[in-house]
Amino acid sequence: MSYPKPSGRSLLARHLTPEVWRLLNDKETRYGVRLAHVVASGLANPDSSVGVYAGDEESYTLFAPLFDPIIADYHGFGPEDRHQSDLEVARLNAPNPDPEGRYVVSTRIRVARNLCCFPFGSALTRRERRIVEATVVRALEDLPGELAGSYHPLYEMDETTKERLIHDHFLFKEGDRFLEAAGLNRDWPDARGIFHNPGKTFLVWVNEEDQLRIISMEPAADLQRVFARLARALAELERRLAFAHSERLGYLTSCPSNLGTAMRASVHVRLPGLAADEARLTALAAAHGLQVRGTHGEHSASEGAVYDVSNKRRLGITEVEAVRELANGVAALIAAEERA
Ligand code: ARG
Repeated sequence: MSYPKPSGRSLLARHLTPEVWRLLNDKETRYGVRLAHVVASGLANPDSSVGVYAGDEESYTLFAPLFDPIIADYHGFGPEDRHQSDLEVARLNAPNPDPEGRYVVSTRIRVARNLCCFPFGSALTRRERRIVEATVVRALEDLPGELAGSYHPLYEMDETTKERLIHDHFLFKEGDRFLEAAGLNRDWPDARGIFHNPGKTFLVWVNEEDQLRIISMEPAADLQRVFARLARALAELERRLAFAHSERLGYLTSCPSNLGTAMRASVHVRLPGLAADEARLTALAAAHGLQVRGTHGEHSASEGAVYDVSNKRRLGITEVEAVRELANGVAALIAAEERA
């Protein structure tokens, strides 16, 4: 294949130069992932913001001349930097930014994980995806206390249940065109499903963009409690599963935007005053290291002035720091809302 010049303003378009293409074009990872696979989604979708997906752990080292500049650009994380994890609840110190419950509708913290020693979702075979599902479900089955729940395969779920779960932000829908072009929707809905406890405060998505999306969520803004539940779940799961992880990049994920902590800590917050000027809201959030999305997540619009606000950086920042950044940023947005 000759050099496919990417159009648009994605990180892929910025960093896939003819030199990088020539250098990496004939390389293949042990699991058979090639550069054409990594860049497929960004080439098919010129409006991508990132535009690449790793097909396996080794993609990040073998194709480092492409991934490293993208990672530096997105996270401000250089080749000499080393990621550090910190899931110690006692060090969090993130006070509730909305103790009277006037603005924050709900709080959700998720992390992404992939199993060690398998390709990532975009490069899994149908058979491997089923093995991943079975392995994960087995690990989830005997979780203790508040984390105990049950697994619901997507292929067995009736439409009404599915629609309700999606509307209530508990379930994922079939991937968008970005995931489609990456190969992450293959065989849908085979081997996909959701695990949750009865109260739906602890959930695990299986075989979406990443093999596991581990989620702690509840109404209002008690970040401390949401984080504590997630940390407990991760400690339990670490005992049962081996995750794809690198000394340098932390937890390894399909999309380089999720590397490191692989954590997105978010609140749904109602900001009717600031909604009048969304560009200003976005700039204000960005000044606090936060990202603004619509009510139904990525690539969606806001409904009733409810925004999804979350940490942008996930690599080169610890989990504890990311949640604290969210708490401080949300407090600042609420203060601005009160003046608006
Ligand atoms: N590939 C999409 C893009 O480049 C999504 C990037 C970040 N989001 C994600 N879910 N990984 O726009």
